Amino acid sequence: MRILVTGGAGFIGSALVRHLVGEIGAEVLNVDTLTYAGNLASLKSVESAPNYQFLRADICDRARMQEAFASFRPDIVMHLAAESHVDRSILGAADFIQTNIVGTFSLLDTARHYWDELDARRKSAFRFLHVSTDEVYGSLGDEGLFEETTPYDPSSPYSASKAASDHLAIAWHRTYGLPVVVSNCSNNYGPFHFPEKLIPLMILNALEGKPLPVYGNGANVRDWLYVEDHARALFTIASRGRPGEKYNVGGRNERRNIDVVHRICAILDGVYSDRGPHARLITNVTDRPGHDARYAIDASKLESELGWKAQETFETGIEKTVHWYLENEWWWRPLRENVYSGERLGVFKGR
Ligand code: NAD
Ligand code: TYD
Repeated sequence: MRILVTGGAGFIGSALVRHLVGEIGAEVLNVDTLTYAGNLASLKSVESAPNYQFLRADICDRARMQEAFASFRPDIVMHLAAESHVDRSILGAADFIQTNIVGTFSLLDTARHYWDELDARRKSAFRFLHVSTDEVYGSLGDEGLFEETTPYDPSSPYSASKAASDHLAIAWHRTYGLPVVVSNCSNNYGPFHFPEKLIPLMILNALEGKPLPVYGNGANVRDWLYVEDHARALFTIASRGRPGEKYNVGGRNERRNIDVVHRICAILDGVYSDRGPHARLITNVTDRPGHDARYAIDASKLESELGWKAQETFETGIEKTVHWYLENEWWWRPLRENVYSGERLGVFKGR
């Protein structure tokens, strides 16, 4: 099985590539332009595997994408390349529009022309998995869950750009017959997570004795999924999902942000009892503009139709994650020193 992965040097992409190369034994071509969020160090464990290749290229570059399809000849495309951080999208949306919308268009259209020329057997087996987020559905109140049929209602430039790309992906199926499948997943966490997102930022700030900035009152709810569970779900959907369908991915792990931060502090208290309660570092800061109140996923379609189920609970996953950061300073120290040191992003006067 030949799988072209875009964004394989990112957080979820690298977990997926490690799973495909190491456990599934697929032939993998990882196409990634290496933005600030792309990091080949996350792929050290597979970089010299005979079934792994890397191509540094921008998905918006049609000519390079056509060459990659023509020479690698994928059976499956798993498209993860994106700008992914809500706060950066508030600061400036141009890269989000370019990569998430224009880049997805470029990839879909390249895939369509490549797919059109395949023989009948390969044509019917081909799949294009477009990897998306539950943030396209907008914000929930205290009750209810996102279902695949929930209307789109995105709040941030990031989620609006992902919503646009989801619509393009489904349109390429309805109009051209390209066998597209779309997945919408809740918040991921785990090893190799770039320390701009809530969980790794809180772990590293707490370790360094810095403030833990909780937006607003910390009552916003996210539904957390361990990244390796997501990687397994993505392969399940790409290999067995029905063309034209959407699948929600999540593990029923809703938590308020403030409770997540307290849990991280408690784990660190257990390791470094001499450093005092880490929760003293928690600081309430100005809220994020357009901050969605609650996300919660109903993944029963994926569970009943394709037999996937999350293996980690939040309690087991967060424990593993905190310990991974404690043991892998070689990975995060260069990022904190040279790429992003944790300053607040995405607030502006007037909000
Ligand atoms: P990430 O920011 O960690 O990684 C994105 C990767 O894409 C990076 O390696 C980057 O170099 C690459 N990339 C960016 N622009 C590119 C371009 N123009 N051409 C080629 N490569 C490019 O993101 P992530 O958290 O791993 O998310 C991966 C995908 O999953 C995204 O599509 C995101 O929307 C989606 N998603 C993320 C989450 C989450 O919690 N992080 C949840 C659900 C869905
Ligand atoms: P984040 O990790 O940015 O993911 P997303 O915005 O895609 O859900 O944020 C998760 C939640 O944590 C979100 O409600 C915003 C909040 N948050 C903070 O309170 N403080 C922070 O420093 C960050 C980065 C996020």
